[in-house]
Amino acid sequence: KKELLILGIETSCDETAVAIIKNGREIVANVVASQIESHKRFGGVVPEIASRHHVEQITLVIEEALNQANVTFSEIDAIAVTEGPGLVGALLIGVNAAKALAFAHNKPLVPVHHIAGHIYANRLITELKFPLLALVVSGGHTELVYMKEHGHFEVIGETRDDAAGEAYDKVARTLNMPYPGGPHIDRLAQEGTPTINLPRAWLEEGSYDFSFSGLKSAVINTVHNAEQRGEKIAPEDLAASFQASVIEVLVKKTEKAVAEYGVEQVLVAGGVAANKGLRNALEKSFSEKPGIELVIPPLSLCTDNAAMIAAAGSIMFEKGIRADLALNAIPGLDI
Ligand code: KG4
Ligand code: ZN
Repeated sequence: KKELLILGIETSCDETAVAIIKNGREIVANVVASQIESHKRFGGVVPEIASRHHVEQITLVIEEALNQANVTFSEIDAIAVTEGPGLVGALLIGVNAAKALAFAHNKPLVPVHHIAGHIYANRLITELKFPLLALVVSGGHTELVYMKEHGHFEVIGETRDDAAGEAYDKVARTLNMPYPGGPHIDRLAQEGTPTINLPRAWLEEGSYDFSFSGLKSAVINTVHNAEQRGEKIAPEDLAASFQASVIEVLVKKTEKAVAEYGVEQVLVAGGVAANKGLRNALEKSFSEKPGIELVIPPLSLCTDNAAMIAAAGSIMFEKGIRADLALNAIPGLDI
C-alpha cells in the first residue's frame, strides 16, 4: 500500500504551524513559528496582531515544511486544517491558505477540530487503545473527553469558566510574571510548599466539570489582603498552593472518570500537560493502577503545533471526512 502523506495547518491562536505526517503517525516535517515575543508586552494574545503575523508567516512556514520533508505538493494526499475553535481572524488565515492549496493542487481538504488535534498528538507517541480518556488542559480548554473509537469524541466534563492554563496565566500576572505564566508558576511552585489554604472546586457530586475562576480570585484576594496588612507572602508558597489545588482537582476527576468508564488508556493533551507537577501527580497515580496506560506527549507536542492537526487529519481523511471550498472558520466549534 502506498504511503499516506497529510499536510496539516494550524493557526487558531498565536502559533503559525505546518507539518507533514506519514501514515498517520510519523512526523516528516514539523514547523512552528511562535509569536509569543510579540504578545508578551500586552500580557496576552492580541487577536489583531496574531492575524497579521499569520498572514506574514504562513507561506514561509508551508515552504519550510515541504523542504524539511523533502517532498513536493504532488506527493501530498490531502490538506488538513484547524477549522475551530480559536480566534476567528487567526483561524481564517489557515483555512484560506488550506483552501487555496487544495484548489491550486487539486487535493482533498480535511477540516480538523483543534481539540481533536491536541488529543491525536498522543498518536505520534503510541497507538491509541480504545476505550480511552483524554484530559485536555490548555490556555483555552479544560476537558475530559471519552473516546470509544477513532473520530468519536464525547465530552464528559469541561470548565464552566476559566481554562486551567488561563488561570495559570492570570495568577502569574498577579505575581508580576511574564506571559505565558504557566511555565513560570510551575518552576516557582517546585521551590515552595503548599502552605496557603486555597479552595478546590469539586462542583456537584458526580460532575466531571471544572471551575477555576474561584481559585484564581482566591489567589488574587490573598495577595491584596496581605498587601493591605503590610505583610509579605512568599510567592513560591503561593504558586505551590495554587498549583496543588489545580492538580488535585484535575487528577482526582481524571481518576474517577477512568474508573467509571473503564478505560485502558489515559491521554494528556494541551499546553498545561507540560506542567511538571501535573505530570508527576498523574504518573504517580497511574503507575499504581495496572492495566491502565498513561501517555503524556513531549512538551513540543503538548503546546499548539500542526503535527497534531495532520495526525488527527490522517484519521479523518481515512474516515472520508472532507470539506469543500466553502469551508469557513468556526471560532466556537463544538467537538
Ligand atoms: O495548548 P496551548 O499551547 O494553547 C492553547 O490551545 O491554549 O496552551 C497554552 C497554555 C498557556 O496558558 C500556558 O501558560 C500553559 O499552556 N502552560 C503551562 C505550562 N506550560 C504551558 N501551564 C502550566 N505549567 C506549565 N509548565
Ligand atoms: Zn491548543
